[in-house]
Amino acid sequence: MLKSKSLVLGITGGIAAYKAAELVRLLVKAGVNVQVVMTRAACQFITPVTMQALSGKPVFIDMWDSSISNGMPHIELSRAADAILVAPASADFLAKLVQGHADDLLSTLCLARDCPLLVAPAMNKQMWENPATQRNIKQLTADGVNILGPESGEQACGEVGLGRMLEAELLLALLNTHFTPKLLASKRVLITAGATLEMIDPVRAITNLSSGKMGYAIAQAAADMGAEVTLVSGATALEAPPNVKNISATSGQSMYQAVMSNILQQDIFISVAAVADYHPVTQHSEKIKKNKSSLTLELTSNKDILAEVASLPNAPFCVGFAAETENLLEYAEAKRQQKNLPLIVANLASDALGSDANSVTLLDKNGAHPIKRGPKNEIAKLLLAHIISLL
Ligand code: CTP
Repeated sequence: MLKSKSLVLGITGGIAAYKAAELVRLLVKAGVNVQVVMTRAACQFITPVTMQALSGKPVFIDMWDSSISNGMPHIELSRAADAILVAPASADFLAKLVQGHADDLLSTLCLARDCPLLVAPAMNKQMWENPATQRNIKQLTADGVNILGPESGEQACGEVGLGRMLEAELLLALLNTHFTPKLLASKRVLITAGATLEMIDPVRAITNLSSGKMGYAIAQAAADMGAEVTLVSGATALEAPPNVKNISATSGQSMYQAVMSNILQQDIFISVAAVADYHPVTQHSEKIKKNKSSLTLELTSNKDILAEVASLPNAPFCVGFAAETENLLEYAEAKRQQKNLPLIVANLASDALGSDANSVTLLDKNGAHPIKRGPKNEIAKLLLAHIISLL
């Protein structure tokens, strides 16, 4: 969503200004046309030369820049922008925004804007907690300014608490969310993702090779499209996307409980998790010792979460996944019909498991819709677009 967008990146005076360098690098890589505007104080922390080298454009600092043809950079820059992001936004700059000050280029630009304004606050925790700053944040939110962060952690001054600027990668993701059309606004989406762990004893388990990447990509894309997302995560090493409700449920039985207790009111259920079909009848409380030449494990079946959800009265729109090693479309379509699903996503296990990319075929009552191989986050968007068209 960021490709070819024009962004004014404002940098104010704070130690987090160094993170703006990485942010510019990521923005440029994502195809964003970045115009950096710095305050005088920001230049104490990072040089305009660095920002110029990374953005590929001269940096504006002064109100009185003669290189702007009409001599009005505050109008010209803000009109050309799809959004203004101020990162880091100091406590002083937030106060200026609230008051509508226009005593330097960046504050004037914000006041004269006709595009969305996003700010990423960064300051010492006492400054953040100060009632004056909290009042300002409340007012800015009421004025329609999008506040990104801050986060908690170790601060440059050595204190620990809320006030750190969000990392550049997260700011990029949030900016992407900002520009994504909200096609799933007011929709509730429940997604399962990852492998399950069926414990044999306290240190051993039966699991599978699912990484959770596809389910997490769908959760991120659905949240970007404005959905209220609940993610039920099995075993995965991934960090849950911001702005989704993440519930950890690593066994098939706990995943069943987690889904069933959150399924009411959901509009869409996307069952991406590779749920084990069986779990051990006995879960040993102590480690099993190798004192026998062979060991037999008795397994009993897990409930089929997707099939149970699909058979609920007032079931949400249910989407299944089928990972097969042979007869892909035939087996997947059979699963779609058995579980009474409007849509199933067929993929070859060798294409999908653990990889960052995938190639899938969507099967619905109208037939097969192949999607060529691409990154899982792109596949996720195309899948959601297909779901929206069926809804
Ligand atoms: N699924 C589920 N609960 C289970 C098992 C699977 O919700 N206990 C869901 C998966 O999330 C996926 C779909 O069902 O969306 C997979 O269908 P299934 O027929 O169970 O696939 P496999 O387990 O791979 O079946 P088989 O081993 O027979 O191929």
